[in-house]
Amino acid sequence: MEKRQELYAGKAKSVFATDDPDRLILHFRDDTSAFDGRRMESLARKGKVNNRFNAFIMGKLAEAGIPTHFEELLSDTECVVKNLDMLPVECVVRNIAAGSLVKTLGVEEGSELDPPTFQLFLKNDELHDPMINESLAETFGWATPEQLAEMKALTFRVNEVLKQLFADGGLLLVDYKLEFGVFQGQIVLGDEFSPDGCRLWDAETREKLDKDRFRQGLGGVIEAYEEVGRRIGVSFD
Ligand SMILES: Nc1ncnc2c1ncn2[C@@H]1O[C@H](COP(=O)(O)OP(=O)(O)O)[C@@H](O)[C@H]1O
Ligand SMILES: [Mg+2]
Repeated sequence: MEKRQELYAGKAKSVFATDDPDRLILHFRDDTSAFDGRRMESLARKGKVNNRFNAFIMGKLAEAGIPTHFEELLSDTECVVKNLDMLPVECVVRNIAAGSLVKTLGVEEGSELDPPTFQLFLKNDELHDPMINESLAETFGWATPEQLAEMKALTFRVNEVLKQLFADGGLLLVDYKLEFGVFQGQIVLGDEFSPDGCRLWDAETREKLDKDRFRQGLGGVIEAYEEVGRRIGVSFD
């Protein structure tokens, strides 16, 4: 596999072409952003920690039969993935109220959501990732009704796998965001699953161990990611 030109530099990762048009290399950088990219900082070890974390989670999801783009780790900060046609829609499942749900609906932070909720957001930093729905996605061609149904079903299946995995490590999976794309006509999970895109709380103390530490200036961001990783069996060496 030969690494070719950089195709895109996002807020946290860079995407490179390879000699295989069906494969890309994702490079996880130390860059950390919040508030739609308005706050940026470099956090030592983050690229490596998230690359390893993501590889571990994608492996668990694949074992559970969920189609993912992940192929293999290439280095500490790089992995090989399938080249997906990404859909500009973010799928969110919430088990416990936090973040924008608390702000926009006035729900109390920490209340259990039963059943868990599913939300769609448009992936668009300039518009601050507005909440959308199936009807808007269909009208504007962001995803077809069939693709939306598949993404919703897969996002809930991910919940069943990961809620248990984190619970075994004494952690609450509060919420998470997934991005999907199309590969050879099939909906496939893309992007990353790391503490950058989910909320994880200690089950006993409810201490935040995810990117909210960065957003809220709590410090110890990467130490928290490593703690979560250790508890679920991710190897960072
Ligand atoms: N398998 C894939 N194929 C094509 N694009 C992908 C794949 N996985 C992730 N991406 C895209 O690559 C970019 C990853 O970089 P990131 O730093 O997260 O960017 P962003 O700032 O757009 O969120 C995202 O735009 C994401 O949608
Ligand atoms: Mg991103």
